[in-house]
Amino acid sequence: MSPTSNLENTNSGSESAAEVNWDELGFSVVTTDYMYVMKCAKGDKFSQGSLLPYGNIEISPSAGILNYGQGIFEGLKAQRTEDGRILLFRPDENGLRMKSGADRMCMPSPSVEQFVNAVKQTVLANKRWVPPPGKGSLYIRPLLIGTGPLLGLAPAPEYTFLIYCSPVGSYHKGPLNLKVEDKLYRAISGNGGTGGIKSITNYAPVYTATTDAKANGFSDVLFLDSATGKYIEEASSSNLFVVKDNTISTPAIDGTILPGITRKSIIEYAIDLGYQVMERSISVEEMLAADEMFCTGTAVVLSSVASVTYKETRTNYKTGPETLSAKLRQTLVGVQTGCLEDKKSWTV
Ligand code: COI
Repeated sequence: MSPTSNLENTNSGSESAAEVNWDELGFSVVTTDYMYVMKCAKGDKFSQGSLLPYGNIEISPSAGILNYGQGIFEGLKAQRTEDGRILLFRPDENGLRMKSGADRMCMPSPSVEQFVNAVKQTVLANKRWVPPPGKGSLYIRPLLIGTGPLLGLAPAPEYTFLIYCSPVGSYHKGPLNLKVEDKLYRAISGNGGTGGIKSITNYAPVYTATTDAKANGFSDVLFLDSATGKYIEEASSSNLFVVKDNTISTPAIDGTILPGITRKSIIEYAIDLGYQVMERSISVEEMLAADEMFCTGTAVVLSSVASVTYKETRTNYKTGPETLSAKLRQTLVGVQTGCLEDKKSWTV
């Protein structure tokens, strides 16, 4: 059965409104109706996937992902517009990033076309879970994992591309209070690092730092470069920007920084709005002297930073509706939700 005919079969079951209180959405798992699954043996190409009822998957205890962490993920969102359409934002970019992550992790990857097609099918099959306009979005989580069994250290003999989704509200409530982490690092520079891809193994190692920061009242952690500890890199799951005298700067993509799709889009929107944007190294001192600061990512969208605490000293930044961050967020969210004209044709 082709994925399309499968979609037609399953889609009819998901017309009624989802049983969820749209006003209480956070960023946690709300299970939906369907997930998309496509498998491929090592050395082959992905060819045909299908929609299945959302549920647990069976996996060998010897699977490559469980034993050696061979896996990557993506994140993107679907938004419902006022006139009833459902929009995706640059899903081809997620497909491309998955391909580059797969190359690094020695895995086969779906083509960009297969990726986007699978995302569309997953969203349509779960369309009753896309929140009403202004209430949130449907977060889409594509996974690519080594599911074949093995014991010796080697690429897994089989791979699974899986997409599930969940309606979500805001990731953070209000502007962020960040703590600079100066003992643990998120990524190492040089050819061996994986900071520039969405490897599953990049994420759990931040928990010791984020758990400690949250226990002390911070929203998130800001990581520094591992080579010198002098330059800012990322928050735990988002890219960083600083604003000084109307110039916007963000750490350059150098292997340790995730090439965020929101990051890349904000850079283009800011240039179109007439701002100077620089991708370069930003020292801690320079960050502390900035006027404004914000984080970008699919989950966080664009979140203003209210303060950064470095070695016990807190520095505050401008927040609120008059800031450049607010203007950029309005542009991004306006396009993503269909409220503003999409001059770049980024929405699908
Ligand atoms: C995303 O922004 O989609 C992410 O991957 C963040 C996630 C770790 C919550």
